[in-house]
Parts: sequence; structure tokens; C-alpha cells
Amino acid sequence: MPSSVMPTSKQRDGHPSPAAVSTVGLRKSFGDKTVLDGIDLHIPTGSVFALLGPNGAGKTTAVKILSTLVSADPGTGDVHIGGHDLAADPQGVRAAIGVTGQFSAVDGLITGEENMLLM
Ligand SMILES: Nc1ncnc2c1ncn2[C@@H]1O[C@H](COP(=O)(O)OP(=O)(O)OP(=O)(O)O)[C@@H](O)[C@H]1O
Ligand SMILES: [Mg+2]
Repeated sequence: MPSSVMPTSKQRDGHPSPAAVSTVGLRKSFGDKTVLDGIDLHIPTGSVFALLGPNGAGKTTAVKILSTLVSADPGTGDVHIGGHDLAADPQGVRAAIGVTGQFSAVDGLITGEENMLLM
């Protein structure tokens, strides 16, 4: 595998690169239902990360928060996306990311490559 696609947390100069995603104590409740109960993540730049869990575990909620679509609850610690502070610089986060939906009405009508390009 070429080094450009190898997961790495270090830059060429040996310094650690900023995490693609880092969260400290990410929290979210809906009413009295706690969905995210203090999630700590450190996803290195250049890596591929899969967030797995049973239906209703809170995966989509986490992605919505990390992509600025839903706010995290008070008590959540620092959250950075591509070096941008989610709370202080949501526009910076939006400029740095791409998000694809779980379902698309045209999934079955176009090719896999066309779906990737569309997203
Ligand atoms: N806007 C909302 N209002 C109230 N409850 C919500 C809301 N969004 C999600 N929930 C609840 O939060 C919990 C987590 O939902 P979420 O969609 O994040 O789970 P998921 O891990 O993505 O599930 P799935 O594997 O089915 O996609 C579920 O109990 C869901 O009903
Ligand atoms: Mg989901």
C-alpha cells in the first residue's frame, strides 16, 4: 500500500499530525434518554475508521454532531475536526469535511462510481 494512504499519526517532520477527529466526553441525550454517554475518540489523520454498534446505539447521532448538524450536550469536552473546534468554529469544520447520507433515492439507479461522485 502506498505510504500516502497508510494510516499515520505523524507528519514527515516527525511531529504528530492533528487528529482528523478528536472528542472528549461527547454527550447527547434526547429527553431522559442518554444516547451518547461520554465518548472519547482519537482518529488519526489519514486513517480509515469504522464506528460500529447495534441499531439505536447512537452512531448517526454522533455523525450528526461531528458534522455540525446537531449540537452536543453541555458537559461535552473539546471536540476538534481537522483541527477546527466544533463549538467555536463550526464553519471551519463544515469547510473541512464531506458527509454522505446512509440512503439515497438514486442508489439503485446509478453506478457505484456515480454514487461516489455524487456524494
Ligand atoms: N431527534 C431525536 N429525538 C429523539 N430521539 C432520537 C432522535 N434521534 C435519535 N434518537 C434516538 O437516539 C437513539 C440513537 O439513534 P441513532 O439514530 O443515533 O442510532 P444508530 O446507531 O445510528 O442506529 P441505526 O443503526 O439504526 O442507524 C435511538 O434510540 C433513537 O431513537
Ligand atoms: Mg444510524
